[in-house]
Formats: sequence, structure tokens, C-alpha cells
Amino acid sequence: MGILIQVHSFLRWIVLILLLTAIIKSLNGMMTKRAYAASDNKISLFLLISTHTQLLAGIVLYFISPFVMFNAGTMKNNVSRFFTMEHSVMMLIAVALITIGHVSRKKAATDAAKFKKAFWFFLIAFLVIFAAIPWPFMQVAKDAVIGWF
Ligand code: HEM
Ligand code: HEM
Repeated sequence: MGILIQVHSFLRWIVLILLLTAIIKSLNGMMTKRAYAASDNKISLFLLISTHTQLLAGIVLYFISPFVMFNAGTMKNNVSRFFTMEHSVMMLIAVALITIGHVSRKKAATDAAKFKKAFWFFLIAFLVIFAAIPWPFMQVAKDAVIGWF
């Protein structure tokens, strides 16, 4: 379980950096009206793969983590409520947003529409992921002893 948590914890940075890169590139594309490039496609695909890997690791962790439980105390305990409900549900929504963004961007007819789809789906996903990460300054991370990596 230790190595899986380390992978899941480190991958957050890859996902966040790729998300930010995709958001900035899309904004740049919208503003300069440039053509949708191979590098835009690549970033979106790398983002999708790292996010799906994170999803897979998260689902496995959900079954083996001591923080995930289903009993009368689940909602009363800060840490178990966070990982059983808040973190997992919000991250599932974010993964869906990235997947829909990636696919609808691919299907969009014009380059301008591709940048617009990517920008909005990825921006909202970024905000959801940022809010659902157990950052070390949050009480839940202090209680569960979770660091930056
Ligand atoms: C629980 C595990 C996973 C689920 C539920 C899942 C689900 C999905 C879904 C719904 C799509 C969109 C299909 C579409 O409409 O085009 C997709 C595409 C994809 N996923 Fe996953 N996935 C999972 C794990 C993974 C993993 C572990 C990887 C790679 C390491 C991965 C790589 C990809 C790739 C490369 C695509 C296609 C992207 C494209 O068409 O451009 N997925 N997956
Ligand atoms: C982009 C998506 C995600 C990100 C960025 C993310 C990030 C994180 C981070 C930073 C931690 C703390 C790791 C540590 O202890 O250092 C964590 C823990 C955890 N995550 Fe995620 N996560 C994502 C998706 C998911 C999903 C979809 C699920 C389940 C369906 C999930 C389930 C868990 C569980 C159960 C833990 C607690 C593991 C433990 O310490 O026992 N995560 N996640």
C-alpha cells in the first residue's frame, strides 16, 4: 500500500502541472487565434493518461485504505469522512470533466472551439482538484499526517 500512496501522492503534481499547461496553452490559443497544434493534442493526451492512472490508483486505495470505512463513525471522523466521501467524489467529478474535455475538444469542428472546450473543462477540473487535495496546511492532512509529496 505504501508505494501506491507514494505514486498517488506524487502524481498529483504531474496532473496539476499538465492541467495548468493545458489551461495556459488554451487561453493563449483563444487570444492569439493560432492553429490548434500537435503539442496541444499531446498535452491533452498526457493529461488524460496521468489523470486516468490517478483514478486507477485512487480506486485501489479506496478498497485498502484504513481511512475509508463504512460505519456509524465515518461521518463523525474528519479523516474518514474526507477520504470516504469528499476527496473521492470530487476527484471522480474532476476525472470525468477532464475526460469529457479531452473527448469533446477532439470532436470540436474548429480550432477556436477546441481551445474553448479545453480551457473551460480543464479550468473547472483544476479548481475541483485543487479544492479536494489534502494539502498539508488543512486540518485533515494534519490529522492524517500527509505531506507535500
Ligand atoms: C479505472 C480505470 C479507468 C477508467 C474507468 C477509464 C475510463 C476511460 C474513458 C471513459 C475514456 C474515454 C473514451 C472515449 O470516449 O474516448 C478513456 C480513454 C482513455 N484512457 Fe482511460 N480509464 C481508466 C484507466 C486508464 C489508465 C490506467 C490509462 C493509462 C495508463 C488510461 C488511458 C486512456 C487513454 C490513452 C484513453 C484514450 C484517449 C483518446 O482517445 O485520446 N485509462 N478511459
Ligand atoms: C486527480 C485526481 C486525484 C488526485 C490529484 C488525488 C490526490 C491525492 C493525494 C495528494 C492524497 C494524499 C496522499 C498521501 O498520503 O500523501 C490522496 C489520498 C487518497 N486518495 Fe486521491 N487523488 C485523486 C483521485 C482519487 C480518486 C478518484 C480516489 C478514489 C475513488 C482517490 C482515493 C484516495 C484515497 C482513498 C486516499 C487515502 C489513501 C491513504 O492514505 O490511506 N483519489 N489523493
